[in-house]
Amino acid sequence: MNKNIISQTYDITREQRNKQNAHPSFVLWFTGLSGSGKSTLANAVEKLLFEKGIQTYTLDGDNIRQGVNRGLGFSAEDRKENLRRIAEVAKLFVDAGQICFSAFISPMRKDREMIASIVGEKDFFEVFVDTPLEVCEARDVKGLYKKARAGEITNFTGISAPYEAPENPALHIQTANESIEDSAKKIIAFIEEKINKL
Ligand code: PPS
Repeated sequence: MNKNIISQTYDITREQRNKQNAHPSFVLWFTGLSGSGKSTLANAVEKLLFEKGIQTYTLDGDNIRQGVNRGLGFSAEDRKENLRRIAEVAKLFVDAGQICFSAFISPMRKDREMIASIVGEKDFFEVFVDTPLEVCEARDVKGLYKKARAGEITNFTGISAPYEAPENPALHIQTANESIEDSAKKIIAFIEEKINKL
C-alpha cells in the first residue's frame, strides 16, 4: 500500500445508518451455475424487502461485467479479480447500511473464501442456488449452454470450467424442487431473523 494514502474516517458511521434504517446491513451472496436462478431469486427477495422499506441493493454478474468489470473474461484469474472487486463494492454497500444481494456464479471455494474475508465473515452469508446442470441446461434462458456445447464459448462453468459447490452454505436453495415464491420466502425468513436480532 502506498504510504501516502491515509484512510479517511467518516462522521456518519455504519452503526448510525443501521440504527436509522432500523435493520443491520450485510451481504447475501448467491452462488450457483449460470441459469440456476440467482438473479431471479435476488430480485424476488429484494422486491419483497423494498416494499417493507428495507434498504437493499443487488449486484449482478451480467450488469457488473458491463461496467465496473468491463474487460474481464472467464479465465480463473479474471473470475478471481471480478469477484475481488465485487466483494470490495459489496463491502461499501454494507458500510452504507444496505442489505446487499450479490448474484455471481463465483464457482471456486477459494474465491468465495476470499470474498468472505474481504466483506468480513460476520457480514457474509452464502446462498447456494443448487440447481442441477441438467436443469440449467434445459432452461438455457440465454442460449449459452448450447453455444458452450458447440464449443463457441470456452471456459463455460459446468461444461468446460469447474463449479465447486459450497460445503456449508448459510442457505441451501433447490430451485428445481420448489417455486421461486417458496425459495424467496425461505430467504426472507432468514433475513427477518437477522433483522429481529438488531
Ligand atoms: S463469475 O464466474 O462469478 O466470475 O461469473 P459472473 O460474473 O457471475 O458472470 C456470469 C454471467 O456471465 C455469462 N457468461 C458466462 N458464465 C459462465 N461461464 C462463461 N464462460 C460465461 N460467458 C458468459 C452468463 O450470462 C452468466 O450469467 P448467469 O446470470 O450466471 O447466467
